Amino acid sequence: MNTVPIPVGPPLWLLAELTYKCPLHCVFCYNPTQHARIQDEMSTKQWVSVMQQARKLGAAQLGFSGGEPLLRDDLVELVQEAHRLGYYTNLITSGVGLTPAKAQALKDAGLDHVQLSFQDSTKELNDFLSHTRTFELKQRVARLIKAHDWPMVLNCVLHRHNLPHVRKIIDMAVALEAEYLELANTQYYGWAWINRDHLMPTREELEEAEALVTQFRIEQEGKTGSKTRVLFVVPDYFEERPKACMNGWGSVFLSVAPDGLAMPCHNARDLPNLALPNVKDTPIAEIWQRSNAFNAFRGDSWMKAPCRTCDERHKDFGGCRCQAFMITGDPANADPVCSKSPHHEKVVQLVAQAPTRRHIPIVFRSDDESRHLHPVP
Ligand code: FES
Repeated sequence: MNTVPIPVGPPLWLLAELTYKCPLHCVFCYNPTQHARIQDEMSTKQWVSVMQQARKLGAAQLGFSGGEPLLRDDLVELVQEAHRLGYYTNLITSGVGLTPAKAQALKDAGLDHVQLSFQDSTKELNDFLSHTRTFELKQRVARLIKAHDWPMVLNCVLHRHNLPHVRKIIDMAVALEAEYLELANTQYYGWAWINRDHLMPTREELEEAEALVTQFRIEQEGKTGSKTRVLFVVPDYFEERPKACMNGWGSVFLSVAPDGLAMPCHNARDLPNLALPNVKDTPIAEIWQRSNAFNAFRGDSWMKAPCRTCDERHKDFGGCRCQAFMITGDPANADPVCSKSPHHEKVVQLVAQAPTRRHIPIVFRSDDESRHLHPVP
């Protein structure tokens, strides 16, 4: 543990990754590709303790995520406790398992908000990308969410397969009365990193999709009544500056994995030489304020050139540590998405080479590490 901790505010956003188990097999899932090896899930009592400790530290938003959090038998109990503690709670779900009875129980427990994932506006692509027949189920679940009067975010990960459907995806979200549609361009972590050549769009495909989003926003301006707001999450491989990942390492975001590992981002498990603490044996306050892992990339003293002297370093915090590691081999390097990074050319190459590497089979998320291989449609 560090003896001189860097001053830090509260972990405002607590993400409880209740389980890595999931009935879907999405090709862009950000969960660790070795997720099936992580078996030692925390008990209800341990999760309640995490929620209580984090709330005392000032956590205000709580996301129940996974995997599929509805696979946990104690989800209603956990939501009830979170509500009692005063959290604003969000269920992040594929929809599988959200039956009418479960929805009512979650409503009664005080759940505030639901984020439902879709893979596409067509049954064919939705079901292909998730390797399940879930498109119609998701439509039913979306109606169930609205029937329970929850604010609903529809989340759709974008890539070259569904970018041409963007307008149809927007129309679907409007028809389902979503308050928000999050069009999240693929972030290349976990399974998406393995499948990046299959998922990588061209700049033209992105620009066409973004123009359709802009067109929709213009159409909305003159309308009255309830509206669907569309968020277009930038495709950072095509940017000149990196995203402010997690709003800065150890700044507001605390993720707790199913086995109790506490992480400043969902992918930190894969970073080298980072002794991630575990909530099973270390108090949250100590983890948040004093652990080496949470202090490793806080502030700017860890930064190397060009970030160290960059006048944008307090805006983007050097970008994403995980991306820096995956692409340059060193998590303390500038995120190579940044055009000032000496490794930026690697990102340009990853984009350019993608069309030439699609003979490599696409890999569906699977518990079997020998991985099931399927052809691209
Ligand atoms: Fe880990 Fe960005 S995903 S720091």
